[in-house]
Amino acid sequence: MADVILETRNLTKSFKGFTAVNDVNLQVQRGHIHALIGPNGAGKTTCFNLLTKFLVPSAGHILFNGHDITRAKPAQIARMGIIRSFQISAVFPHLTVLQNVRVGLQRELGTSFHFWRSERLLDELNDRALALLAEVDLAGFADTLTADLPYGRKRALEIATTLAMEPELMLLDEPTQGMGHEDVHRVTELIKKVSAGRTILMVEHNMGVVAGICDRISVLQRGALLAEGTYAEVSKNQQVMEAYMGTAGGELQGAH
Ligand SMILES: Nc1ncnc2c1ncn2[C@@H]1O[C@H](COP(=O)(O)OP(=O)(O)OP(=O)(O)O)[C@@H](O)[C@H]1O
Ligand SMILES: [Mg+2]
Repeated sequence: MADVILETRNLTKSFKGFTAVNDVNLQVQRGHIHALIGPNGAGKTTCFNLLTKFLVPSAGHILFNGHDITRAKPAQIARMGIIRSFQISAVFPHLTVLQNVRVGLQRELGTSFHFWRSERLLDELNDRALALLAEVDLAGFADTLTADLPYGRKRALEIATTLAMEPELMLLDEPTQGMGHEDVHRVTELIKKVSAGRTILMVEHNMGVVAGICDRISVLQRGALLAEGTYAEVSKNQQVMEAYMGTAGGELQGAH
């Protein structure tokens, strides 16, 4: 039996009669980088919003480590170790890179006040923040004002602030969106690196990224699960190819 960290059972979301997510049964295996892909309007973001509790399902269940979290609040699942990046972990532009990671660490600890009382604890916090920056290759930018960071580096900082919250499952919503070639490469490598000892579920449009780092791929179409498997499997799937036909430049072909 596979070790499943996240599971949906018959997950469904309707908006005024329109079913955006339709009876989806997902299983994310622990330790995997799992991608959710599909043509525009397939229901990827809606699915993500259900998993992160931004939306309440119309029907179905969500299980995390075997516990039913269908009715849990966003803050509760964050405490359980499900952390979404790139949307809630917005960084503060007027703080330095190091200060931003420290804020993330304090948020995780929930003890901001007494932390500032002790010089020793402050040093400990700095050490942890610097270690996280080193993990995402930002050690050289510690004192840089966040607003002055290049775009791809900001995303790396967002990953560091997410890591500060010690996620067991990281949810990444189009992590390479809007990036140039070099940043895409850097962030892809970074995701691969921080996936060690964690599980990652990501929505991703860039098939090169999906092909490069994802262990398993679920394809959504019109709200329903169309196919599942490795990149090699789903990219050969006739229904998947048809689903992608006529969409923004036949994305699946663009991966080679
Ligand atoms: N709040 C809402 N009210 C009504 N319809 C919605 C709502 N949110 C999403 N939808 C519809 O649900 C469908 C799925 O949308 P969703 O944003 O989940 O797709 P997606 O796969 O993320 O697409 P994209 O690749 O374009 O980001 C779309 O037809 C969308 O118009
Ligand atoms: Mg979307």
